[in-house]
Amino acid sequence: MYLGADYYPEHWEKERWPIDAELMQKAGINVVRLAEFAWSKLEPEDNVHDFKWLDEVMDVLNKRGVKVILSTPTAAPPSWLINKHPHILPLLKNGQRMAFGARRHYCITNRTYYYYSERIIRKLAEHYKNDPQVIGWQIDNEFGGPKCYCDNCKKEFQHWLKLKYKTLENLNQSWGNAFWSHDYTSWEEIPLPIVDYHNPTFDLDFRRFFSDMTLKYSNMQIRILKSITPDKFITHNFMGLFPQLNYYKLAEKYDFVSWDNYPEKLENKFHIGLAHDIMRGLKKKNFWVMEERVSYIIREDIIIPTLPPGQMRLWTYQCYAHGAEAVVYFRWRACSFGIEQFDSGILGHDGTDKSISYREAAQMGSEIRRIGPQFEGSKVVSPAAIVYDYDNVWVNYAYQERPMYNYPDEMLRFYKAIRKRGINVDMVKSTDELSKYKAIIAPLMYIVTDEAADNIKRYVEKGGIFIAGFRFGIKDTHSNMVKSVLPGKLEKLFGLSIHTWDNLREKKVEVKDTEGNIYQADTFADLITPKEAKPIARYNSNWYTGHTAVAVNTFGKGRAYYVGCGLPQGFYDRFIEKILPGLALESIKVPDEVEIATRGKKGKRFVFVMNFSAKPSRIFLKKKYTELIKGERLEEKIDLGPFEVLILM
Ligand code: GAL
Ligand code: ZN
Repeated sequence: MYLGADYYPEHWEKERWPIDAELMQKAGINVVRLAEFAWSKLEPEDNVHDFKWLDEVMDVLNKRGVKVILSTPTAAPPSWLINKHPHILPLLKNGQRMAFGARRHYCITNRTYYYYSERIIRKLAEHYKNDPQVIGWQIDNEFGGPKCYCDNCKKEFQHWLKLKYKTLENLNQSWGNAFWSHDYTSWEEIPLPIVDYHNPTFDLDFRRFFSDMTLKYSNMQIRILKSITPDKFITHNFMGLFPQLNYYKLAEKYDFVSWDNYPEKLENKFHIGLAHDIMRGLKKKNFWVMEERVSYIIREDIIIPTLPPGQMRLWTYQCYAHGAEAVVYFRWRACSFGIEQFDSGILGHDGTDKSISYREAAQMGSEIRRIGPQFEGSKVVSPAAIVYDYDNVWVNYAYQERPMYNYPDEMLRFYKAIRKRGINVDMVKSTDELSKYKAIIAPLMYIVTDEAADNIKRYVEKGGIFIAGFRFGIKDTHSNMVKSVLPGKLEKLFGLSIHTWDNLREKKVEVKDTEGNIYQADTFADLITPKEAKPIARYNSNWYTGHTAVAVNTFGKGRAYYVGCGLPQGFYDRFIEKILPGLALESIKVPDEVEIATRGKKGKRFVFVMNFSAKPSRIFLKKKYTELIKGERLEEKIDLGPFEVLILM
C-alpha cells in the first residue's frame, strides 16, 4: 500500500535530496507527487525543456524505493508564456485581467493555452513513458476556476447554447426571456452572466458550461497521456464538497478519484466524512487522498493551529475508514519562501525528523506497512444513500449565495443522524440504480427529472424507503419553478399535496410529532395536505396549525416520507432510528465524539473506531473483537485515549 508525500524538490538545493529520500524511507513514505507547479523549471524558455533535475531527484528517490506520481504542471503557466500570450490570463467578472503572480491564471477555453499545455504534457509523457518508477499521473491541480469572462469564453458559451437549444426561440422560451425584456434575436447577443442579479436559468447553464469546458480541457490531457503512457494511472485532485464542477462527469475518464483533504476542526468529523463519501461516490470506488493536511495553516482566509500529537494520524485513519486506498500528505517539508511559507509540512522548516508530523507519518508508515494489506481493496458497503446531483448542487448554491441556508448543512442533518449510529452512507445520483439500498434520502432536491422520478417510483414500489426533504421537486431542469401541484410527478408516491409554503428566516414555528415531542422548525416550511399519506408531525403555531409537517405514505412494497421543514438534529436522530432499525452495529456502543465506519472484503469486516476528541473516551463491546493495529483481543468496556483509533475485526 502506498503512503505518500507531496514533494517539491525544486524548492531545495539538490544536496538536500538524498537526506529527504532517506527520511522518507525511514518513515515508510513510498510514493511522492512531483512537478505539480514546476513548469518554469521544466520549460524555462519557450520550447526549451529541462528534465535533468527531475531525472536526478527521481534517481535519488528510486534508491530509497520511492515511486512517483507526476503532475502535469498546467495549474501554473510560467511568466514567459504569459508575457508572450497575455490573453491566456482570465478576464475576471469585474472586467479586469487577472495578473500574473498567483496560480490557476489561465482561461480554460484559450486555444493558445491548449497548444502549450499539450506540448509540455507530450514532452513529459514521452520522457517518462518507459520509466517504471512513475506509477501514474495527476492532471493539473484542483480544477475549478477562476471563471473567465473573455470574448472567447463568450463565443464558446454561445456555441454551447446553440448546440443545446438549437433555436433561439427554444432558448428564449426555456430561459423565460419574456421576463424583463430579455429575448435575444441572435446568438451573438447572449452575454456572459456578469451582472449579479440575473436569470437563474442563465446562471445554471453558465455553471454547466464552465464545468463542460473544464472537462474538455481535462479530457485533452487524458487523451495525450493515455496515448503515450497507457499503463500508468491518471487521476486528478478533487476538492470534496467544492460545488463548481460536475464532479461525476469529470471523474468518468480518470482511473480513480483522488482528493485534497484539509480538515479544519475535530468536531467536523461528519463534514469530512461526507466529503470522503462524495469522493467515493464519484466513481463508486475507493479513492486516494492526494493532499492530506499535516498540521498548521495560516492564510488570509484560514487559520489552523498546530495539531496536537495523534490528530494527524486520526484524520489519516478516517480517510481509510471511508474508502481511501492511499494517503499522500501535503507537504513533505514546510517551505521557507513563497505564499505558503506558513503552511506546515511533515518536516518543519528546519528539515529535521523532530516534528510531530514526522513522528506521526513514520508511525503511519509502519502501521500501514504492517496492517494495510489486510484491509487494502476492501469496500465500504452502505445500506443508505443520500442523493447528490450537481444540477441540484448548483441551483441550491444560487440560493446560498444570497444566504438562506447552507446546502451541505442540509445534507448533514440526515447524514449525521445515520452516521452517528455507525451506518455507512453512499452519495449517489438520483438516476443511479438504487435497489441495493434500504433507504434513499433526498434533501433539497429541487430538480427532479422525469428519469429520476421514474427511478424513485420504481425503487419505492419494490420496497425501498425514500425520504424527501422540503421543497422537493419545485424546479425543472431549466431551474424554472414547476407549474404542477407539488410534489409534482411524485404526488401519488407521497400521497400528499403542497399548495402553500413559507420561509422561516424570521419566524418561530413549532412542530409536534405524534408522540408529543415538540420541535422548532427552521429554513422552509411546506404545508402538507395529506391524501393517502399519514401525518407524523404537524405544525403547531399560528396559521399553520393543523397542517402536516412530516408525513409517510405506503407505496407498493415501500414507503415514501416527506419532511416538510427544517428541524433540530434531535428530530432527525429519532426519525432515522425509527425508520431504519436494525442497521446499526448493535455490538458496539459509542459516545458522540467517536466515529465508527466499516469496510469489508471476503467475509471480513473492519470496524474503524475513531475518537475525535482530545480527551479520553469509552466504548462498549457486546462481543469479542480482535483489534488489528495492536493485535489485542477486546471485549466489554474499552477506554480510548485522546484521538485513539481501533480497527476491530
Ligand atoms: C491545496 C492546494 C495545494 C496547497 C494547499 C495549501 O488546496 O492544492 O497546492 O496550496 O492547498 O494548504
Ligand atoms: Zn476566457
